[in-house]
Amino acid sequence: MSKRTKNKPISPVTTPTNVLVIGSGGREHALGWKLKRSRLCAQIFFAPGNAGTAKVGKNIDLAIEPVNTKNADAIDYFCRHNNVGLVVIGPEDPLSQGLADRLARPDRAVFGPVAAGARLEADKAYSKQLMRAANVPTAEARIFTDPDAALSYVHAHETPVVVKAAGLAKGKGVIVCDNPEQAEDAVKQVMIDKAFGDAGATAVIEERLVGQELSVLALVDGKNIYVLDPAQDHKQAHEGDTGPNTGGMGAYCPTPLMDNKIMAIVERDILVPMVDAMKREGVEFKGVLYAGLMLTAGGPKVLEFNTRFGDPECQPLMMRLQGDLMEIMLATSAGSLDEVSLTWDKRCCCCVVMASGGYPGQYEKGKIITGIEAAEQDPNVKVFHAGTTLNKEGQVVTSGGRVLNVCAMGEDLAEAQQRANAACDKIHFEGAFFRRDIGYRVMKK
Ligand code: AMP
Ligand code: GLY
Repeated sequence: MSKRTKNKPISPVTTPTNVLVIGSGGREHALGWKLKRSRLCAQIFFAPGNAGTAKVGKNIDLAIEPVNTKNADAIDYFCRHNNVGLVVIGPEDPLSQGLADRLARPDRAVFGPVAAGARLEADKAYSKQLMRAANVPTAEARIFTDPDAALSYVHAHETPVVVKAAGLAKGKGVIVCDNPEQAEDAVKQVMIDKAFGDAGATAVIEERLVGQELSVLALVDGKNIYVLDPAQDHKQAHEGDTGPNTGGMGAYCPTPLMDNKIMAIVERDILVPMVDAMKREGVEFKGVLYAGLMLTAGGPKVLEFNTRFGDPECQPLMMRLQGDLMEIMLATSAGSLDEVSLTWDKRCCCCVVMASGGYPGQYEKGKIITGIEAAEQDPNVKVFHAGTTLNKEGQVVTSGGRVLNVCAMGEDLAEAQQRANAACDKIHFEGAFFRRDIGYRVMKK
């Protein structure tokens, strides 16, 4: 990517300004931590943030959801009165509810797509239709709004299917089935019992693909695409990919599963056609386009698109990024991504999620966390907070299912994993559990 030319400003923001990061997870802590190092970043605010972000900047109490005129006006007011020149929207819900649309102004950059772009994640039926129209390789699928039609379809379908609620369901609205009985049960859950609420009013039923799964994230500025190093997430709760699906129990980056040849195919046949397809829909997509892929015998195929940084994939990416994140985000929102350069630490990063006992089911909150500083004694280790808060005594306590994201750098994945696990061993809270096998699918025994 070419260097910035002297006379061309990359964005309306050229002098240090304050930043507002929307969200409260490990992703937002990692983004804020990286933004804080930028020469363009003055102060950072997080809404609502967590105990970790409180050390990077200031947590503020602003209502984010639902995005409506009152809430958006309050955020806009806060930004105007606190010299916020960049708003970074982390999670999918405020994006799909149009927060980026409402906050963009000529003198304020917003990182994250408008609602029409976020629809690619928020509406799996729409996303599938757009993929078909653009000839993007993906699982064969049928879209249903009538539960009886869906039931008779899966009843007669011998090969395994995946039943998906079309709307946003916090990553939980996908049921992978082995046989027609399970598929009928899944249709009932999604469409009749409404286990995922209105998200299941429309269902996408698709062929079940086999292969290794990975995440390819790209920065998109409306026209230019910059593909980031591929990462692999671990969605199941327990080692060896057993147990229920979660938001993600760990990720590493880069992954050797992706070589330059496959990466070129992903860019040419998947990312570029999707950005073009959105342009034809009248949507100038700006932000992160995240393709969840399955590497099948027939080549890479799309499982889903997300329109934001993955959590936890974002954390290893931020650990490895050496460029100026704020400059990159400003250029993304200004349509001048071709003017900035991104450089990466060549080493591998492994991120291990420490979770509350019982997650993703019921779990207790308010457990005192110790040992974070001891873990960070290793200069290769950084601990990002996810579900944490400060109690009345000022102690860091658990407040969510995914509690901490323990990241470590290493010359290779084995070293990064070993360091991350050793760091986790120094951290304690009642009921804590984590997977020691992050990256096992590509590691020699
Ligand atoms: P999604 O939210 O659509 O990425 O689905 C969540 C998880 O379900 C993915 O990470 C995959 O492990 C699995 N999955 C989704 N679609 C398929 C498919 N067509 N074939 C096999 N597994 C799938
Ligand atoms: N790590 C998966 C996601 O962010 O959707």
